[in-house]
Amino acid sequence: MVSYQIELLDEAGAQEALEGLASVLCDCVEGGASVGFVLPFGMEDARSFFRDGFPAVRSGGTLLYVARQAGQILGTVQVGLRQFPNQPHRADLKKLLVHRDARGKGVASALMAAAEAGAVAAGKSLLVLDTATGSPAEALYRKLGWEITGVVPNYALYPDGSYCGTTIYYKQIAAFPSYQK
Ligand SMILES: CC(C)(COP(=O)(O)OP(=O)(O)OC[C@H]1O[C@@H](n2cnc3c(N)ncnc32)[C@H](O)[C@@H]1OP(=O)(O)O)[C@@H](O)C(=O)NCCC(=O)NCCS
Repeated sequence: MVSYQIELLDEAGAQEALEGLASVLCDCVEGGASVGFVLPFGMEDARSFFRDGFPAVRSGGTLLYVARQAGQILGTVQVGLRQFPNQPHRADLKKLLVHRDARGKGVASALMAAAEAGAVAAGKSLLVLDTATGSPAEALYRKLGWEITGVVPNYALYPDGSYCGTTIYYKQIAAFPSYQK
């Protein structure tokens, strides 16, 4: 039975959830996920990452979702809505993170569904993301209908400092509006 809720946080909610968000990020990095950081990486590094994103949450440039169960943050995902003027229809799916203790229960799928719905509600037609090539996340994205654009070898590092490729995915989530003047 699903017993967690998916919530869209405002800035106050994000501040209140900071410890839980940071714990999830730390756990993913410690678990070897290539999500932007290398070891050593601790709670203060993780807090700092989320704090840096608070202004965009406040301004509406970022949608920040969490999965919460009995007050505990199980996972999170972000949608970056703010783009250059020639890409008003596009958003970036970022930082999908689920704590290792909560995996395999559909948390990421539920977060992705909420993020997609939020992007559609914000008027977006196209989502783009990148992920470590060969990571478990790839199966998730393919299952959810994302298409592979291509692979960039040696794009990033795993937390242990070894190189990893990155696969870029996209998904059309709504009809493309006409912007022609
Ligand atoms: C990838 C990740 C978000 C998946 O979270 P999750 O909550 O366990 O995913 P779900 O339970 O919603 O899984 C949905 C589907 O994804 C696929 N999937 C998820 N984890 C998988 C794994 N370890 N191996 C293979 N397929 C997997 C399966 O198709 C699964 O469907 P199924 O359970 O019916 O087989 C999680 O493993 C994670 O946080 N990893 C570290 C951070 C990361 O790599 N994030 C992606 C950054 S782009």
